[in-house]
Amino acid sequence: MQKGEKHMQRMMANLMTAVLCVLMAGCSTSAGKEETEGTALKRIGIIQLMEHTSLNQIHDAVMDELSALGYEDGVNCRIDYENAQGDTNNLTTIVQTMEGNGEDVVIAITTPAAQAAMALSDTTPIVFTAVTDPIAAGLVESLDKTDKNITGTSDAVDVTSIMDLAMEFVPGAKTVGYIYNPGEDNSVSNLKKLQAYCDEKGLSVETAGITSSSELQTAAQTICQKVDIIFVGNDNTVAEAMPVLSNTAIANGIPVFTGADSMVKDGGLATKGIDYTQLGKESADMADMILQGTPVSDIPVRVYAEDLYIYVNTKTADALGIEIPSSVTADAKYVEVN
Ligand code: TRP
Repeated sequence: MQKGEKHMQRMMANLMTAVLCVLMAGCSTSAGKEETEGTALKRIGIIQLMEHTSLNQIHDAVMDELSALGYEDGVNCRIDYENAQGDTNNLTTIVQTMEGNGEDVVIAITTPAAQAAMALSDTTPIVFTAVTDPIAAGLVESLDKTDKNITGTSDAVDVTSIMDLAMEFVPGAKTVGYIYNPGEDNSVSNLKKLQAYCDEKGLSVETAGITSSSELQTAAQTICQKVDIIFVGNDNTVAEAMPVLSNTAIANGIPVFTGADSMVKDGGLATKGIDYTQLGKESADMADMILQGTPVSDIPVRVYAEDLYIYVNTKTADALGIEIPSSVTADAKYVEVN
């Protein structure tokens, strides 16, 4: 069967469920209740760690795909969306609320959100979304062994490719600055990769740890005095205040290479990274498969190692007076951001 046909069939099936629900609700005597003669609306929980460009993009992609698949909040399902606003205490409360709701599936956006959602996995299937290193985060044992009621999508960062790209832009770079929140396992994992790359190439690494995005300005200003370039992986705490880092780095003449296109949109110089809209869409597809009865253990973790694009912010390049190498602009997967 063609993908499109399958999609169509799925939409029709969901549409019919919707019609049936509405008809049954009409006959039900328990007005105002969603439960009708044993047919409860499916509940989809969505937990987002905080607001930043990439997470909002992922959230929108998830919602668009759920809607394309026929899910309509309040009509044929319930979508419970919660945003922790960057506070891990909020995550705990949200997870408790979702436990009380009895969600049929929970979609958790980011590593910290997925780690918090693990507490639900005894009873609720979890689809994690944009988790950099699901193994290091303790979510799965291996990418195709998803037997703990948890699966999802990974935005693993290709640190080697990004650093190779950085060296094309700044061939003489000797010292690389790395800013991160040591509390984010995604960033600890990226630091290990960066360290391995730099050891091999004879570069040195200067790190700066922050625990909240309000510390980014000072950390950026300090590290700019010590390094030739900055690399930030896909740290949520940094991403939340990325424009602050971008402006500080530009003012100091230091190029910033990132692990995500959103951080290039927010003023970083360049990355080689994935398409987060595709990742969000496929995360929603996984949640749909689970709701339709596919066992979680049949759905391996999806990574996007082959689908990498080069994103370059031309305004930032201009501001730094850096020329974009022709090898980069000639690349078939070159995307200009401005
Ligand atoms: N990968 C991050 C995590 O594991 C989440 C994330 C997605 C992210 N897109 C991003 C972080 C962009 C920073 C920038 O939690």
